[in-house]
Amino acid sequence: MTIDAKPGDEPRVLWITGAGSGIGRAAALSAADAGWRVALSGRRQNTLEATADAVRAHSGDAFVVPVDVRDPAAVTASADVVRSRWGRIDGLVLAAGLNAPDRRWADQATETFDQIVQTNLVAPAHLIAAALPHLRERHGVAVIVSSYSAWTFSPGAGVAYSASKSALSSLARTVNSEEASSGVRACHLCPGDVNTDFLELRPNVPDAEARGVMLEPSDVARSIQFVLDSPPHVRFDEIVISPLSQR
Ligand SMILES: NC(=O)c1ccc[n+]([C@@H]2O[C@H](COP(=O)([O-])OP(=O)(O)OC[C@H]3O[C@@H](n4cnc5c(N)ncnc54)[C@H](OP(=O)(O)O)[C@@H]3O)[C@@H](O)[C@H]2O)c1
Repeated sequence: MTIDAKPGDEPRVLWITGAGSGIGRAAALSAADAGWRVALSGRRQNTLEATADAVRAHSGDAFVVPVDVRDPAAVTASADVVRSRWGRIDGLVLAAGLNAPDRRWADQATETFDQIVQTNLVAPAHLIAAALPHLRERHGVAVIVSSYSAWTFSPGAGVAYSASKSALSSLARTVNSEEASSGVRACHLCPGDVNTDFLELRPNVPDAEARGVMLEPSDVARSIQFVLDSPPHVRFDEIVISPLSQR
């Protein structure tokens, strides 16, 4: 069975975490422009509503589902809300993420370590588990927004961030190994430096000149859209995207 968008079909449905800002927001706008309905998750209702307004301004269809991805019960409930709203989930973009300025063995707090791992690793596992029954129905695809530091060791990225993002490769690979027979695909997407609010969490926050040579969220969104719109028999196991300036 091939499940591909055809003229007259209902639009495909994409569930995005981290949709109120940065890469998640850009992915929502790009997917909506490509004809997908977008369900927008994150903690801050106001930023999610702003993304939804931007989607609707482009004649897209958006729906806000606020959730703290560290809450497994709320994640499961949110998947059901998205599925009920539009009757299907064809894609998942996991862009919610966390880091902290105090990120080295010398200064990290145990509680902060736990929060980063919860957000970057445990939550994506719960989100995939919650969406998987629906993705199987649609031969869907999950794009796991990981990091350049998961692709190659990056000393400044931090203990918890490096460890949690590196493990996302295993999440993608196990999905691809175990779910190929159900038609579900996962992409481990590894962006280098991107000019978003996330940079505020660095010990040394980059200035405008440094940000000017980074990727923009729309650059990453374009690669996400490429994965989302590829035919169901095509899988991108891993993508690394970096600015020319990345070292
Ligand atoms: N910027 C970079 O250089 C870069 C490079 C490589 C990878 N990445 C990854 O890209 C992803 C998106 O980051 P970004 O650069 O676009 O930065 P961003 O604009 O700060 O986005 C992070 C998003 O995560 C959401 N989030 C954080 N904790 C959450 C939680 N507990 N529950 C629900 N949502 C939560 C935030 O929304 P709320 O605060 O409203 O919850 C926010 O929308 C992250 O996973 C990050 O690790 C970024």
